[in-house]
Amino acid sequence: MVKINKNYNALKESYLFSTTARKIREFQTQNPDKPVIKMGIGDVTKPLTPCVVKALEKASAEMGVAETFRGYGDEQGYGFLREAVQKYYKKIGNVDLDANEIFIADGAKSDLANFTDLFSNDNVIVIPDPVYPVYLDSNVMLGREIVYIEGNEANGFLPMPYEGLKGDIVYLCSPNNPTGAAYNREQLKIWVDYAIKNDMLILYDAAYEAFIEDDNLPRSIYEIEGAKKCAVEFCSLSKTAGFTGTRCGYTIVPNDIVIENKSLNKMWLRRQTTKFNGTSYIVQRGAEAVFSDEGINECYSNIAYYKENAKIIAKALDEIGVWYTGGINSPYVWLKCGMDSWEFFDLLLNEAQVAGTPGSGFGKCGEGYFRLTAFNTRENTIEAMERIKKIFKK
Ligand code: MLT
Repeated sequence: MVKINKNYNALKESYLFSTTARKIREFQTQNPDKPVIKMGIGDVTKPLTPCVVKALEKASAEMGVAETFRGYGDEQGYGFLREAVQKYYKKIGNVDLDANEIFIADGAKSDLANFTDLFSNDNVIVIPDPVYPVYLDSNVMLGREIVYIEGNEANGFLPMPYEGLKGDIVYLCSPNNPTGAAYNREQLKIWVDYAIKNDMLILYDAAYEAFIEDDNLPRSIYEIEGAKKCAVEFCSLSKTAGFTGTRCGYTIVPNDIVIENKSLNKMWLRRQTTKFNGTSYIVQRGAEAVFSDEGINECYSNIAYYKENAKIIAKALDEIGVWYTGGINSPYVWLKCGMDSWEFFDLLLNEAQVAGTPGSGFGKCGEGYFRLTAFNTRENTIEAMERIKKIFKK
C-alpha cells in the first residue's frame, strides 16, 4: 500500500501565493467591471530588456541549425554564464569565486527548497519570522524541527543570533522578503562569526541584491570575511532582470565548506546531476546578456523605475501617517495595517481593488502587517495608493 509523506499534513492547505491568487481570481470573476491592481506577489511588469531579447533570439536561431544546435548542457551550467557570474561578483562586491562554485539554476526558489536534500532530517532549522514561506514549507515537508527567530519593529525586522540559539542551519534573506529590511556588514559579520563558532550553516537568499543602493549594505554574503566557510548563497534573475517567467538563477556552494568530511559542493553536484538537467541553453544566453555592461545598465534602469514606485508608495503612507519599512534597498514596502492582516487583504481587495500580501502569510510575527510590491506600472501604483489613502482616511 502506498504511504504518503504525513509531514504534508502539517502544511497550510495551500501555498501563500496560491491562496492570494485564488482570492483575487474569485473577486475578479464576481466583479468583472472592477479591475484589481496587483501589488501582491513580486511579479515584474517591465518586459525583458532589448539586449536580453536579442540574445534569446540569437540563441533560438542557433538551436534551429545543425552546426550550432546544442543538446544536454554542461552539468553546472554553461562556462560562458558561470564566467559572467564570476565577473559580476567581482564587480559588485570584489568577491572571487571559482567557476566550479557556481551552479546555474532555474531560479532561486527551487534551489532554496531542494538544497534541503543534502541534510539529515534531525537538523534543527532556524527560520526568521516573518520570512519567504519556501524556507519553512520545504523543511516542514521533511518533518524537521524549526526554531523561529523573531523579527519586529524593535530589531528592524532583522533578527540576530543570541547566546543559546539552538540550530544547525539558518536561512537569511537580505534585502528581506517580505520586509525590505537589509543586514549591514557589521550585522552579517556577527551572523558569520556565530555560524563558524557554532558549526552552523547559513543558507543566504540574495535574490534582491540588485536593489541595494546603500554602500554599507553587502550585495553578497561573501563580502564578509569567513562567509565562504559557512554560507551557501542563492540568487535569481527574476527581480534583477525580469526573469520571473523566463527562469534563471544561480547558487554558490563554496569549496571550503566540508561537513562530516563531505564537500557540500560535491554533494550538490551529485544531487543536481541526478535530479536536474539544467536551465535551457537559450535562457542561459539571455542570462549572459543580463551581465553584459549593456544588460546591467538596462536592468538597473528598470530597477530604478520600480524604486521610484516604492517612493510613491512610501510618500502616500507618510501622508496618512502609516508606519512602514523597506522600499529603499528593496522592491517591498512593509506596512503596519493595524488589524488582522487577512482581513486587511479582503478590505483592500473589496473596497479598493488593490491586492497585496497579508503579513501573517510570512509568519506569526507578520500579523498586523501587510506587504506591497513596487513591481506594478507607474500609473497603477499611483492609482492604487490614491485608493489606499481613501481606505485609511475612512
Ligand atoms: C514573492 O512575492 O514573495 C516572490 O515573488 C515569490 C518568489 O519569488 O517566488
